[in-house]
This record gives sequence, C-alpha cells and structure tokens, in this order.
Amino acid sequence: MSVALITGASRGIGRSIATAMAQAGHHVIINFAGNETAADETLAAVKAAGGSGQTLRFDVGDDEAVSGAIKSILAEHGQIDVLVNNAGISIDGLLMRFKAADWDKVLATNLRGAFLTTKAVARPMLKARAGRIINIGSVVAQAGSAGQPAYCAAKAGLEGLTRSSAKELASRGITVNCVAPGFVDTDMTQALPEARREAILAEVPMGRMAAAEEIAATVVFLAGAGAGYVTGQVLGVNGGLYM
Ligand SMILES: NC(=O)c1ccc[n+]([C@@H]2O[C@H](COP(=O)([O-])OP(=O)(O)OC[C@H]3O[C@@H](n4cnc5c(N)ncnc54)[C@H](OP(=O)(O)O)[C@@H]3O)[C@@H](O)[C@H]2O)c1
Repeated sequence: MSVALITGASRGIGRSIATAMAQAGHHVIINFAGNETAADETLAAVKAAGGSGQTLRFDVGDDEAVSGAIKSILAEHGQIDVLVNNAGISIDGLLMRFKAADWDKVLATNLRGAFLTTKAVARPMLKARAGRIINIGSVVAQAGSAGQPAYCAAKAGLEGLTRSSAKELASRGITVNCVAPGFVDTDMTQALPEARREAILAEVPMGRMAAAEEIAATVVFLAGAGAGYVTGQVLGVNGGLYM
C-alpha cells in the first residue's frame, strides 16, 4: 500500500488532503505540531471514510525531529511514496514594523520545513526510483500581499524549491509540484478581520472562497498515475484570483 506523509494534517486543508488521499487508497501519516485532539479527529475522519492512517507529532522546522520522524516511518513501513508539504503558519504585519523573530518563525515552518522533509524523503524515493512530492504554496507568492512579507517570501521560496528539486529528481521517477491555493475557508482565513475577508472576496472572480476539499482533489490528482509526466509546476487553485 502506498504511504503518504502529509504535514500539518490535523486541521484545515491538511485534514482534507489526508481524508482524500486515504479515500484514494494511500495509508496516510497525519503530522501535526501540537494539537493532538485535532489530529485524532483527522484520523477518525480517515477511518470513517474507509481509509487507514496514523498520527505523528513533529515540528517540520526541527532538523532532528524531521529525520527521526522519517526514520520511524521507514522502519515501520519500509517506504514513503508521497510527501505533501502542507504545514504552514502565517504571521501578518506591515514590512516597516515586521519583527525579525516573526520572519524567522514563518520561514522556519513554511520553507525550512519543506526543505528538511524533502531532503529526508529524497534518499528512500531515489532508491525506489519513484515518488511524489507536493508542496502547498499560495497565490500570494505570485500576486504579492501587503502586510504579509514573510509569508509571501516563504511561499515564493517554496516555488523555487519545487523547481530545483523537480530538476534534480526527475530522472529517477520522482515528481515535485506545487499547488497554490487562493483563499480557502480554514482557521487561517477565519483569523482575518471581516473587512479584509470581504475585500479579498470582492477580488475573486468566482466570488467565493475555496473549500479545502477542492485543494485536496488537486493533490490527489498530482499524487496519482494520471500526473506521471507533470513536474516542476505551480498549479493555481484560486477561483481566478490570479491568472
Ligand atoms: N487557508 C488559506 O486560505 C490558504 C491559502 C493558501 C495557502 N494556504 C496554505 O495551506 C496550508 C494549510 O493551511 P490551513 O489554512 O489549512 O492552515 P491551518 O488551518 O492553520 O492548519 C495549519 C496546520 O499546520 C500545522 N503546523 C503548523 N506549524 C507546524 C509545524 N511547525 N510542524 C508541523 N505542523 C505544523 C498545524 O498543526 P497543529 O494543529 O498541531 O497546530 C495545522 O495542522 C498552509 O501551508 C497554508 O500556508 C492556505
């Protein structure tokens, strides 16, 4: 059975990805940072959907924690077929007032995290001469977003990491792609002030936020046999917000 590690799968988009990937036949490893109750709820959703999975706590930005986690998955399952780098945080603030410590936090989870997990799964995937790596970026990497300097920089960096690792790994049957959502109805966007949410929606040609399931469906496609010749791409799922 294919084994898929989904980072940040306790809530939001990650939970939907875990459920959809399990329904598509993958055994899902549900990573989370601290919210164990939420991770258990994701596992319950996976099982209710007829799938199989397990939870695994580790901080994606912590080098030793990541290598320990990947080793434990390999010891138990012998393989990792799919990695979805979904874990992300957003700290907002205008550039002029943005604290360097907040910059480091955002970059640590959104960019360093994806680098560490990609590096750790590359060896077993190279050995297997197969693998799928899917990074969850954001529309703001290309469009920019006032008040999100670190988040935009991290997501733009993730696109560069996608292309660079896609080139390095392609000859061994490993694809690396990025899914760039627009605005999705999750805890992250519920934290936005109502006026900001309304202003964003006014810019979306489809006039609504995405459901997390719509992002998950794109991930399932990229992890599936039909996407075998797709690599190094950034696929926008944004209701036309950026084109
Ligand atoms: N929502 C949107 O509109 C939107 C749009 C574009 C892109 N995205 C991207 O989509 C991804 C998911 O977003 P979301 O809205 O679903 O976020 P969310 O609801 O805030 O959930 C974030 C998830 O990431 C986990 N996480 C945070 N820091 C972590 C760390 N250091 N190590 C491991 N896991 C960590 C959280 O775990 P705990 O539960 O343990 O805290 C949680 O499972 C992010 O990369 C985000 O940037 C979201």
